[in-house]
Amino acid sequence: MMKNTIKKVTEGHLQELLDQIKQKPLPRHVAIIMDGNGRWARSRNLPRVEGHRAGITSVREVVEGSAELGIDYLTLFAFSTENWKRPESEISVLMSLLKRYIDKELPTLIEKNINFSAIGRMENLHESVRKKLNQAKEKTAHCTGLHFIVALNYSGRAELVDAVKKILLSAKQIPVDIDSVTEGFLQQHLYTSSIPDPDLLIRTSGEYRISNFMLWQLAYSEIWITELFWPDFNKRCLYEAILVYQKRERRYGGLSEKI
Ligand code: IPE
Ligand code: IPE
Ligand code: MG
Repeated sequence: MMKNTIKKVTEGHLQELLDQIKQKPLPRHVAIIMDGNGRWARSRNLPRVEGHRAGITSVREVVEGSAELGIDYLTLFAFSTENWKRPESEISVLMSLLKRYIDKELPTLIEKNINFSAIGRMENLHESVRKKLNQAKEKTAHCTGLHFIVALNYSGRAELVDAVKKILLSAKQIPVDIDSVTEGFLQQHLYTSSIPDPDLLIRTSGEYRISNFMLWQLAYSEIWITELFWPDFNKRCLYEAILVYQKRERRYGGLSEKI
């Protein structure tokens, strides 16, 4: 009885947040630096990998929450090019969790019309991981709802290096006119060429840095940082972040509309 009452109160509150969100435009692209799994585990005297395991629930929450809200793009930073510095055993658990997540969630992604893709240096990932990512991409290629992007073996600097390489390679075939090198031209060579820049960047675990994430794309993103560790992040936190975002005034270097 008590449990039911508590559930109803929570649901009621969530609905209120949803109603508020619906009154203003949504961020088109939400990007999240999922951080604090290790500290979440340590605070419970558990091995770090248990934090990664628990973090899967939060992934499910934000993916489904974003799809339900009608957000167009959600990017989750899952593994950076710098994360290879970690013990092999931890990396192996992270990769296994990703594969298991895809196996388990693929039917739900399809059912909810969610289009899955990955960005990063795919060539350095284990073949079994690449296969799973490709399988999820192919099986959701027809989905037209939320674009769910996982950044894996990703770093913003590596992405810029790869863009320059792509440009130099194609310049070998057709010379590039120097005047055609614009911001738009560079953008077309990024992993995110078909994705709008994030409107809202969320980082968990109270770290005030971007850790080499989307260096180009975050130029004018609104940033929201929560002290919560990633495994404690849920739909409500996503809603709260969006509500804060909706109150921000984005000036892009111009002047306030109020002036
Ligand atoms: C985020 O949690 C997951 C990845 C970076 C892969 P961490 O593993 O970084 O957790 P903390 O920051 O050490 O607590
Ligand atoms: C950022 O978290 C990378 C991911 C969330 C995948 P890290 O834990 O690697 O970042 P730092 O080391 O605290 O900057
Ligand atoms: Mg961390």
